[in-house]
Amino acid sequence: MKSSTRPGTFLLACTLLCTLVGLGCSLSCEMCKGSGPTCSGRVKTCDEGKDACVIVVGESSTKGHHSVNTYKGCMKFSDCYPGFVSTTMGPKDYMVSNTHCCQGDGCNRGSVPPPQNNRTENGLQCASCIQPFQETCPGTEMASCVGQESRCVYFAGSVQAGIIRTKFATRGCATESACASRPGAQVPSASYLYYLRRADCLPARPHGPPASQPRGRAE
Ligand SMILES: *[C@@H]1O[C@H](CO)[C@@H](O)[C@H](O)[C@H]1NC(C)=O
Repeated sequence: MKSSTRPGTFLLACTLLCTLVGLGCSLSCEMCKGSGPTCSGRVKTCDEGKDACVIVVGESSTKGHHSVNTYKGCMKFSDCYPGFVSTTMGPKDYMVSNTHCCQGDGCNRGSVPPPQNNRTENGLQCASCIQPFQETCPGTEMASCVGQESRCVYFAGSVQAGIIRTKFATRGCATESACASRPGAQVPSASYLYYLRRADCLPARPHGPPASQPRGRAE
């Protein structure tokens, strides 16, 4: 094998052939998953149909348990919405992430800046719920949106954590960038891979007496 002596030329030629001729050559990407703002692993060939490399750095809180995680791998370029996403299901349940996608062999080596995490409430709110193992959830509680979150989302489908795949449903506040996700998309987060069957997105409402939930006391 002499191709390793001129990898740049070889890769460029392959990329051009793949792009111009539509040959089914496959991409290879660095693959890893771990705690912290970056991770490193081996560069491996992607499954067919995955035509982009991705890095996701996420900061999350689950029932107050805080963590920073990084994921690198392959995905469909058409499912990739780069940049900052913030979602909040409650004061102790949220996730912010920064995603970068690229389309060259090993192009996801390196790292991306961790997302900024602005927890200042912005006066908007959304119905919220987190429901593992089911594809619907009621949204009877309300979450206060923070930072740039201006949308209410309802995501449902299945989520893969390692070898385990289970249904999930969740509602809460999100940045508008989260609304780009469409049903059928496979969306990696820093810790899990989400398969979306439902991705609803509505404008968030200001705090105030909710019309649909009358209060039992005068103010
Ligand atoms: C954090 O979010 C609040 C509410 O949206 C906003 O007023 C403030 O400017 C943000 N701070 C930064 C540093 O972006």
